[in-house]
Amino acid sequence: MEKLMIAGGYPLKGTVRISGAKNSAVALIPATILADSPVIIEGLPNISDVQILKGLLEELGGTVHFDGNDMNVDPSSMISMPMPNGKVKKLRASYYLMGAMLGRFKKAVIGLPGGCHLGPRPIDQHIKGFEALGASVTNEQGAIYLRADELIGARIYLDVVSVGATINIMLAAVKAKGRTIIENAAKEPEIIDVATLLTNMGAKIKGAGTDVIRIDGVENLHGCQHTIIPDRIEAGTYMLLGAAAGEGITIDNVIPQHLESLIAKLREMGAHIEDGDDQIYIKPADKMKSVDIKTLVYPGFPTDLQQPFTSLLTSAVGTSMVTDTIYGARFKHIDELRRMNANIKVEGRSAIINGPVKLQGAKVKASDLRAGAALVIAGLMAEGITEVTGLEHIDRGYSHLVEKLNGLGATVWRENLTKEELEQMKNA
Ligand code: EPU
Repeated sequence: MEKLMIAGGYPLKGTVRISGAKNSAVALIPATILADSPVIIEGLPNISDVQILKGLLEELGGTVHFDGNDMNVDPSSMISMPMPNGKVKKLRASYYLMGAMLGRFKKAVIGLPGGCHLGPRPIDQHIKGFEALGASVTNEQGAIYLRADELIGARIYLDVVSVGATINIMLAAVKAKGRTIIENAAKEPEIIDVATLLTNMGAKIKGAGTDVIRIDGVENLHGCQHTIIPDRIEAGTYMLLGAAAGEGITIDNVIPQHLESLIAKLREMGAHIEDGDDQIYIKPADKMKSVDIKTLVYPGFPTDLQQPFTSLLTSAVGTSMVTDTIYGARFKHIDELRRMNANIKVEGRSAIINGPVKLQGAKVKASDLRAGAALVIAGLMAEGITEVTGLEHIDRGYSHLVEKLNGLGATVWRENLTKEELEQMKNA
């Protein structure tokens, strides 16, 4: 096991290229199950979630080649292998196997998903959708059993706007008989990306990216080639570290429209931002001003950037408030930032940050993926050395992190954990 070592205080400059979107990738890969001939997905991020999903498709009998960038999946000989345990528990997005396997085989057994612990993360809306399409869904000893004689299109109103439920219902509905209408659907760019892949495979989907999606079921879906969208959350993370410790950095391979809420907030703080077709340049002001943010569903401020934003706010002049309306308990990074000298308190769903303070390097632990991103940014801002453990969380979502950071002039490296550190982790 390794930890990330960060020598803080080196000003960052240059250009960083953004990888394919993790939250698209984890849905696009299961979507290939629905085809009857090979699907090629180009530009995938080389992260552990993608590697785990590759292994899961192989367990189903698929032939999968992944060169770290492009994936070729031949799903033709897949079977509906039950997966109550094992790799499915390692990532949250394994729930997309439910929709995809139900769509293709009309049955699936999938262990309840793992992933980041951000407080309760129910999947009742996914299940409501599958049931509306005619599936029986039961929970037996921590695994979800899904079965349908046939899937029949239905009108489904989501009680909660959910990215996962919207995509999962689309996956199951593309091969159902007749029309499915998803109302109060989520509008995230990743949903449009998945709908684009499915449409290239022969599905009939209208309205992805709006809150009403119409799907007319088809008998068969075929192979195709698809290029994934860039990762707006990875891009946002690099913008934040550019604002926190940069002397002017360029983010390449980004869709600026996907980051409008972040760009607006960074401008409010005083940062200088220029956005082009597929690039964003960001340079911080000498003194950045405090701001308040409230996370909302897309196109509002993304919950996934709330934690990294908090690190930046420690250097802003004044008091800022960060409120997470999506995951009210997504604040495990705050104790770690306090170890680094941050002045932050948590009240309910909000964190209140008083700045500016000079962060100090410390030994800290990433409790989840974006908490890890927050600590990396804090480490780059801090005086001295920061050691971040819990690297397995960061590796789930940030492709080539060390190379990208060092390419911007940072001094960051991975080290094996010492025997004592391993011992402490076992006892924790
Ligand atoms: N919710 C329900 N019932 C459901 C589904 C969701 O109550 O059946 C609630 C959740 O508890 C949450 C809200 O609805 O309060 C939104 O959850 P959503 O279903 O949209 O989240 P998700 O699909 O599980 C995806 C991303 C998350 C991101 C959220 C919100 C993937 C694989 N994950 O999760 O990404 O935070 O949308 O935008 O797409 C991350 O990348 O670090 C990450 C956690």
